[in-house]
Amino acid sequence: MKIELYEIYRDIYVKPTREASELALEHGYLPYMVQRYLDILGEKGALELIRAFEKPVKPVVRTNTLIVESSELKIRLENLGFKLEEIPWAPGSFWVTEKPKSPTLGATHEYLKGYYYVHRDASGLLPVLLLLHEYSGDVLDTCAAPGGKATYMAQILRKSGSGVVYANDLVLYRLKALIGHAMRMRLDNIIVLWSDARILNKRLKKRFHRILLDAPCSGEGRISVDPTRKHKTSILDLAILIKREIELLASLVDLLEPGGVLAYVTCSIAPEENEYVVNYVTRARRDLVVIDPPTRLLDYSKGVVEYRNLKFNEDLEKCIRLWPHIHGLFGYTICLLSRRE
Ligand SMILES: C[S@@+](CC[C@H](N)C(=O)[O-])C[C@H]1O[C@@H](n2cnc3c(N)ncnc32)[C@H](O)[C@@H]1O
Repeated sequence: MKIELYEIYRDIYVKPTREASELALEHGYLPYMVQRYLDILGEKGALELIRAFEKPVKPVVRTNTLIVESSELKIRLENLGFKLEEIPWAPGSFWVTEKPKSPTLGATHEYLKGYYYVHRDASGLLPVLLLLHEYSGDVLDTCAAPGGKATYMAQILRKSGSGVVYANDLVLYRLKALIGHAMRMRLDNIIVLWSDARILNKRLKKRFHRILLDAPCSGEGRISVDPTRKHKTSILDLAILIKREIELLASLVDLLEPGGVLAYVTCSIAPEENEYVVNYVTRARRDLVVIDPPTRLLDYSKGVVEYRNLKFNEDLEKCIRLWPHIHGLFGYTICLLSRRE
């Protein structure tokens, strides 16, 4: 598939209005981002989103249920001064609502013994639960480091039956962190791969029934923990990211077994990085279709099918969106795709 950067840039370019520019200046954003919030959410929604980005998110402790019961972990951490609240849709995971001065979550004996993994936010649990819903077997995690989702998948597969996680990443120092987590948590069903995911289809003979593409993106959904993302990504930077996201998704389709499911995930709320990417690839790959999530764990928002002068296939509505001002989580988008048999 030939992907032209100028074509993407032309598609996503926006000239912000005066209202968007003034709001952007007031809140420290790039104007095109605020223009997008206004276009999708209207003025009230855009302001709610900007306000939600200023609020702290609650970190999450995910129990390693292979070595400890979540009830026991809760008691142990509460004895150290943490307050935990069970996440209703993710059994064994807790929001940390209060922390003592010391120890930090990454310095308890329980952490060092591999009893839990710490997530910045609960949103990253969702794609794993959807992708592995009623599944047991091997999984390819293509952009896996530092391993939040790979270790979760390995844990679920080990508990429910058989299955190996093939965890790949391009960046070696990030892979080292993944290996550290796998060893700390005693997960022996992870095979680590070090490759550009865009050439995995040439390097691997194996095909998979489940693939996770947690794409390297602008991270615009994580502004609450990294405010630099309000002004880090210019429209040209965004076009470059989109090109890589399209290349990743388009190449990984070859590794998907017919009937298998691929989750395309970003911690971004930009339709340009989500529905646009999926629309671009599914237009060229007619064997790839967007599917509904297999279960409704949360009251998700729908995918965006129309945005400024861009109109996507109606199926893109099946994508899942998490909005900070609606769901109290990071901004996140998950599109589940299946390859026709
Ligand atoms: C969103 S992060 C993944 C987070 C991870 N899935 C987790 O849950 O902990 C995206 C990852 O993509 C990796 N990456 C960037 N370009 C890549 C490429 N071409 N091939 C494979 N991995 C890549 C980055 O090193 C980064 O670790």
